[in-house]
Amino acid sequence: MTLQVIVGAQWGDEGKGRIVDWFAAQARYAARFNGGDNAGHTVTVGQRVFKLHLIPSGILQPHIVGILGNGMVVNPQTLVEEMDMLAGNGIPISPARLHLSYAAQLITPAHNALDRALESGRGKDNIGTTGRGIGPAYTDKAARSGLRAVDMLAPDFCEHLGDHVAETNRTLGLHGAPHLDPAPICNQFRLLAEHLKPYITDTAAELDAALRAGQNVLAEGAQGTLLDIDHGTYPFVTSSNTTAPGALTGLGLGLTAAREARVSGVVKAFQTRVGSGPFPTEVSGELADRLRGSGKNPWDEFGTTTGRPRRVGWLDGVLLRYATRLNGLTELVITKLDILTGLDPLRVCVAYKTGQETLTDLPFGPADLHLYEPVYEDLPGWTEDLGTIRDWEDLPAAARGYLERLEHLTGVPVTLASVGPEREQVVEKR
Ligand code: IMP
Repeated sequence: MTLQVIVGAQWGDEGKGRIVDWFAAQARYAARFNGGDNAGHTVTVGQRVFKLHLIPSGILQPHIVGILGNGMVVNPQTLVEEMDMLAGNGIPISPARLHLSYAAQLITPAHNALDRALESGRGKDNIGTTGRGIGPAYTDKAARSGLRAVDMLAPDFCEHLGDHVAETNRTLGLHGAPHLDPAPICNQFRLLAEHLKPYITDTAAELDAALRAGQNVLAEGAQGTLLDIDHGTYPFVTSSNTTAPGALTGLGLGLTAAREARVSGVVKAFQTRVGSGPFPTEVSGELADRLRGSGKNPWDEFGTTTGRPRRVGWLDGVLLRYATRLNGLTELVITKLDILTGLDPLRVCVAYKTGQETLTDLPFGPADLHLYEPVYEDLPGWTEDLGTIRDWEDLPAAARGYLERLEHLTGVPVTLASVGPEREQVVEKR
């Protein structure tokens, strides 16, 4: 059995897409286990930049079978548009290489409308959601009133969809938002159901069989550890389990599937966050502009899904240690190391100060982060351009020193570092 779980170790946007694409060269399956089209995974292949929201990033490797697991919330309209986008770019999508779990929850326009109404009702206390209906869809799932992919196959699907829209209209009314007309939504979903019917399967059984046959399965996490509904900076989190154990429930795998799992935590070389919530190492001004980039490049720090500028800051080693523990990481994969070139010193947060106390761990998880001041350690920077480096030994000593400090802080090895946006701009520690 060879399961590799790839998760974000920060607040999402760590660059998981391109790392999944890298590992997918050796895998048979790439399977998303959580979230929906709130995710935005960017992969650069030659001159082409792919932005994927629902379909696993591994799909860009031609031998990969992509899975949308039962833990996901899937907007069928976005899914069909993404399938068309890929097909239009020469990546053929067919029921032979893309499977949607029958148990995945559906996101409807009613969920989208409710997400927006709830956010505007929160006023200045808003979460800063992506507006993709994620929270309302998971709310319906937990309330056992959600619609699942398999429901699209039933002859009375439109009736259920109509009931769901009517029910959501009642809540929208409470928030002063306009009602939706169920008829056009039913017509839209009838066509989508027709299109997606051949893709709906029992993906849990398929993945179990693949693992038993010794095939490599990549479980591709969306968002990041600190956005996990249970373990993140609650309430400024998403509505799913983004951490590695969620791969099992979100794909329908048993515990034994993870017995020898490789658990890769993708870590951006600095810290970013979109939306509201605490961020102890956040910086502003010139340094922030420098880390964020101009916005001209697809890899600059602007949301792939919403286009919002990301908040940026120094790497937080305390939170990284927390993410290592929660996910059971076996390795760290560092992205965007090249962005740190020219900054000296480089700062890493190694503890927090609160009153007279210095903390190297989080007594109540990341819930109280807003109370803490970061304690930094300064490390030497480097000036060399990293973009053409492919051998670990060729990295400047200061860059290796930075990575070694992260290994020391977390107790797990760094195995890979990206030094540019291109597929091949990766340095592997052998
Ligand atoms: P939601 O997932 O749209 O409900 O948004 C909840 C929080 O998670 C907000 O702060 C979003 O900005 C954040 N979020 C959701 N998806 C992503 C992602 O893929 N990357 C980074 N942040 C995300």
